[in-house]
Amino acid sequence: MATLHTHTIAPAPVRKERPGRVAGKVALVTGGTGGIGQAIALRLGQEGARVVLTDINPALAAAATAALQSQGIETIFVQHDVCDEASWKAAVAAACERFGQLDVLVNNAGIALPPPESFELTRFEDWRKIMSVNLDGVFLGMREAVAVMKDSGGGSIVNIGSIAAYVGTPGGAAYGSSKGGVRSLTKQAAVMCARKGYNIRINAVHPCYIRTPLTEASAAKRFGADKAVQALKDLHPFQCLGEPDDVAYAVLFLASDESRLVNAADIVVDGALLSS
Ligand SMILES: NC(=O)c1ccc[n+]([C@@H]2O[C@H](COP(=O)([O-])OP(=O)(O)OC[C@H]3O[C@@H](n4cnc5c(N)ncnc54)[C@H](O)[C@@H]3O)[C@@H](O)[C@H]2O)c1
Repeated sequence: MATLHTHTIAPAPVRKERPGRVAGKVALVTGGTGGIGQAIALRLGQEGARVVLTDINPALAAAATAALQSQGIETIFVQHDVCDEASWKAAVAAACERFGQLDVLVNNAGIALPPPESFELTRFEDWRKIMSVNLDGVFLGMREAVAVMKDSGGGSIVNIGSIAAYVGTPGGAAYGSSKGGVRSLTKQAAVMCARKGYNIRINAVHPCYIRTPLTEASAAKRFGADKAVQALKDLHPFQCLGEPDDVAYAVLFLASDESRLVNAADIVVDGALLSS
């Protein structure tokens, strides 16, 4: 007679409540009320960081902080102009005063201006403005953060560049050069800090076209409103348009201790666009 085997199915493993990937850290995110900044702040907050959101424009501050707080994330907003030295000192001081430390800086604030018709028509004031926010801002931020982090055991700095750091685009002289500068500056500062034994890692994330209101508006101008999204997708071999979260997840990895050996690196988040 056949023996009837009864199998006892092991109970589903209980998923232990794990600490967040950046639990206990304090992160300052510049341009924190913008499309990508919001996503970064949310991801870091959901993984346990306390978040200092900064932006030059306070208009969206209440909504941006409420979005984080509704998820139980401790956050404050600081109005902050990344081009201004005194403003940087105040923002870092506010983070340290409120949360006692600064472990992660995400230099995300950045601008683009309508591209000139051709290179020789690039206006010097536009060049200066873009350099001032995109490159001076990153330099000042790194300098202020390193000064604090080196005395408190270290930290992680993530600079948001762009695929424009790698390739020429029509009308992209100022924007592309500013992001190329961010790419180089990341390595200069990272190597110096490593040699000094500061335990501060500095890396860059270079996104392709990411679906934000700004990208959609400029693509609508370039391709027409009804064709904009598809045209942007077609640029990428992956045939997809990046979302702010695609950038946020790369930042999360670099902010966390999972990336302890990743330093002075470029992480390109581009759906293979640069390789095509
Ligand atoms: N959206 C894309 O497709 C894309 C692609 C590649 C790289 N990037 C980069 O990602 C970063 C975020 O871009 P986004 O698409 O979220 O743009 P966004 O305009 O939505 O956000 C940028 C934020 O920076 C703030 N800001 C501007 N000047 C500032 C200053 N002087 N001081 C402080 N804050 C200032 C703005 O108020 C805004 O909230 C930028 O560095 C941008 O160059 C974006």
